[in-house]
Amino acid sequence: MEQYVIKGGNPLNGEVEIGGAKNAALAILAAAIMTDETVTIENLPNVRDINVLLQAIAEIGAMVDRIDAHTVKINGSFIKDVTVDNEFIRRIRASYYLIGALLGKYKKAEVALPGGCDIGSRPIDLHIKGFRAMGAEVDIAHGLVIAEAEKLNGTHIYLDKVSVGATINIMMAASMAEGKTVIENAAKEPHVVDVANFLNSMGANIRGAGTDVIRIVGVEKLHKTEYSVIPDQIEAGTFMFAAAAAGGDVLVKDVIPKHLEATTAKLVEAGCKVEEFDDAVRIISDGKLHHTQVTTLPYPGFPTDMQPQMAVILGIAEGTSTVTESIFENRFKYLDELARMGANVKVEGKDNNLLELIAADPAFNMTLEQLEACMDPARYTGRSEIQVTAFLKDVVQPILDANKELLGVKADISV
Ligand code: UD1
Repeated sequence: MEQYVIKGGNPLNGEVEIGGAKNAALAILAAAIMTDETVTIENLPNVRDINVLLQAIAEIGAMVDRIDAHTVKINGSFIKDVTVDNEFIRRIRASYYLIGALLGKYKKAEVALPGGCDIGSRPIDLHIKGFRAMGAEVDIAHGLVIAEAEKLNGTHIYLDKVSVGATINIMMAASMAEGKTVIENAAKEPHVVDVANFLNSMGANIRGAGTDVIRIVGVEKLHKTEYSVIPDQIEAGTFMFAAAAAGGDVLVKDVIPKHLEATTAKLVEAGCKVEEFDDAVRIISDGKLHHTQVTTLPYPGFPTDMQPQMAVILGIAEGTSTVTESIFENRFKYLDELARMGANVKVEGKDNNLLELIAADPAFNMTLEQLEACMDPARYTGRSEIQVTAFLKDVVQPILDANKELLGVKADISV
């Protein structure tokens, strides 16, 4: 088994560049097959889910030309099959975007039920409700979501719960429906806006993305485009938390500071200094952190995907902090790991969604391992180093190579 042996306890000083947003990129890759012309997508993050989705898109016949680790050209004119199913696609969440994309373009889709991180029941009833409202018949059989329509009609859809996935999926299908679709109580996350911008650059007619009412007028055809994915707010926020935990002075570059406002606000409450520039944020921390309260909420609230990282820093803050998870019912599973490292945690609340202090989420293996290593391991374990298993070697290794100094880690890989 591969392992990194990371020696922590050093402050972080330096600069780090942030890559493209995984969750925006996944939806954009799926939407790229909706035209028969060639689409070029830049600033892709080089992570497993992206590669699995590209593989699935290639398997149904689309041309996928990987120019380099961060750029791909896709041509959907060669698609022969609307059935997407393999062992790997079943493990990722974003496979559901292929339902909206294929249904919109071909009026038919058969896609494996989504997998993804084990953070709750994660239903897709709202996606299905949206497709049905547009006139599609949707069934679930043999582990596949089977959706079919003679034609898709624009309609009025109210989402009972704010859902990023349902908003984007419905937006994709509605882009090629007949007439106007209105999505109410839509998600406002930056990646919803990014996918809308991408679709509009292909000739779609979407207005209001970023607000809670999105209006889409369907078009018959979409066309080629070149598009660069927005920066990943979660990756950026994770480095900010790393600097907060270890202490130091870090410039996080290539970000959209507005997307980081909730994260920034909480770090300031916890005693850090954060400076905002046009496309960078600088975080300065003396490593002495105050307790605070955090509740995860849909954007512009505090992101659930930053909850474990926030909990990590609150675990070393003075006093008692609380973290309330309001999006997913099962997102404190990582606590056992942190408790093993000595964190003092207690989960309470009617739905077990209130955490007094800390944590490591499987979804964030890479970033949390780094975070943990940045802290003084002796404080947690009484040992001077922590051994962590590297599940994401391709991602972790370049980051460690580039940031050894910055992260204050020493990485040895033994296979
Ligand atoms: C996406 C992100 C994930 C992030 C989450 C919230 C991807 C691939 N994943 O997940 O990283 O944590 O947004 O920002 O982009 N819900 C329903 N019915 C549905 C859909 C959702 O009840 O049909 C519920 C969910 O169980 C959850 C809430 O709505 O409680 C929000 O989920 P949603 O925003 O859809 O998350 P995902 O798209 O799964």
